Amino acid sequence: MKKILFSFLFSFLSIYSNVDFPVIVERALSYDDVLLIPQRSDIVSRKNVSTKTKLTKNITLNIPIVSANMDTVTEAEMAITMAQLGGIGIIHRFNSIEDQVREVLRVKRYRNAIIENPVTVNQDATLEQAKEIMNENDITGLLVVDNNKKLTGILTSRDVHLSTLNTDNVKDLMTPKTRLIIGRPDIDIKEAQEILFKNRIEKLPLVDLDWNIAGLITRKDLLQKRQFPFSTIDDKDRLMVGAAIGVNEDALDRAEALINVGVDILVIDIAHGHSLLAIEVLKKIKNSFPNIDIIAGNVATAHGVHDLIQAGADAIKVGVGPGSICTTRITTGCGYPQLSAIIHCYQEARKNNVPIIADGGIKVSGDITKAIAAGASTVMLGNLLAGTDESPGNTIIKNGKKYKIIRGMASFGAHLGRTARTSKNSKDDKDDYVPEGVEALTPYKGSVNEIVSQLLGGFRSGMSYCGTPSLDELCGKGQFIQITSAGMRESRPHDIETI
Ligand code: XMP
Repeated sequence: MKKILFSFLFSFLSIYSNVDFPVIVERALSYDDVLLIPQRSDIVSRKNVSTKTKLTKNITLNIPIVSANMDTVTEAEMAITMAQLGGIGIIHRFNSIEDQVREVLRVKRYRNAIIENPVTVNQDATLEQAKEIMNENDITGLLVVDNNKKLTGILTSRDVHLSTLNTDNVKDLMTPKTRLIIGRPDIDIKEAQEILFKNRIEKLPLVDLDWNIAGLITRKDLLQKRQFPFSTIDDKDRLMVGAAIGVNEDALDRAEALINVGVDILVIDIAHGHSLLAIEVLKKIKNSFPNIDIIAGNVATAHGVHDLIQAGADAIKVGVGPGSICTTRITTGCGYPQLSAIIHCYQEARKNNVPIIADGGIKVSGDITKAIAAGASTVMLGNLLAGTDESPGNTIIKNGKKYKIIRGMASFGAHLGRTARTSKNSKDDKDDYVPEGVEALTPYKGSVNEIVSQLLGGFRSGMSYCGTPSLDELCGKGQFIQITSAGMRESRPHDIETI
């Protein structure tokens, strides 16, 4: 029955998208308009539910949370933490290609089973030059090589800080190869672990019999594995990361540069994803780089999902105007309440097993349960993760309270930043620009770890109320009821003085 109703609605929406008379298609709803009906549950503890899910056709996450590609939400620090926790971060595109590539590299280099191409410094370099290389690469030690690129020593921050020698030469400060503990290229990780822990060293260079460097194993990487067992990792044990590209002239160059440094997913980031521009770019990128998964969006209708899947999308981002900083619906009069949008989009996406990402408008953990129950496989969060230690930007104090800035990527402030960067800052640009987002203060929230843990706790309890031990069993199977404003009032704390 449900199937018939939805296929009717889909054909209705398709037919009526081109009619020449006005029509009100349906009464569309958002998260606050509904509740999920509690179901019989055999789940004893919320710890026993599985939150494993699909981000794209080919990429699995252990938690259904993605950090938004916004310049006040996701750069390397956020992406590293999100991947450690089992979700993923999407690095924003409001920077130069080089800057975005650097952020992706910071994530990809953060954790490795074996670092295949460790950063090196020549033995004739000065300490100043070595420090510069360390800073650039965000690392605390360098392998030292001779002119034939053979290992001659290692320079760590310990060598630099604890040295009593009055010298500026790497050669004099490094621990020379005669005192180095090394491993052979075919060493197994367990053996490497024993050597690192037994000798209380941080880094184990791997070299062949001629001292050619074959890799580097670090204690930090091994600890990461133990500390974050549910991390989102690639086949080389590196954290996974996504990056956004636009639909402008630089889209293909950006995509290529990001793929060359190992980005795991590309997100085609355009507010109106059901457009010729988005479809053309998606097809071009799929043709040029068939092995990378692409998330396309944003859309809010089954028709939009259909067209993006036909063009090759591996996941669809749903949401036109629900975001905390969005003014699209006000400025343009267009959009779709998010819960109904997800339900319609899911009906189309499921036919091709393409996952949906519910993007924007998640205010509380209960909204995550509702989004998944409506058919999303993951949720993308902006505001809930902005204002954390891991989000870009400094904290601000106003009236004794701490805040950070969040801004819509179509806000006037973001536009000014962009035009300043590309030096197209003409008066016309400023006068013509019509913002579809705002810039605002969001309360400082501490560490992402705690925020995600609270959100997941609530979501896991939600799964328990729905009687679904795995996310797959909840996805697209929500039994919703529409509530009234009285129901909403009853849902919130009421008739008390909150402290
Ligand atoms: P939340 O509610 O999690 O939403 O903060 C984040 C999402 O909002 C979208 N976004 C925008 N939408 N104008 C818009 O209409 C904007 O300026 C804007 N900036 C971000 C985006 O989809 C993000 O993931």
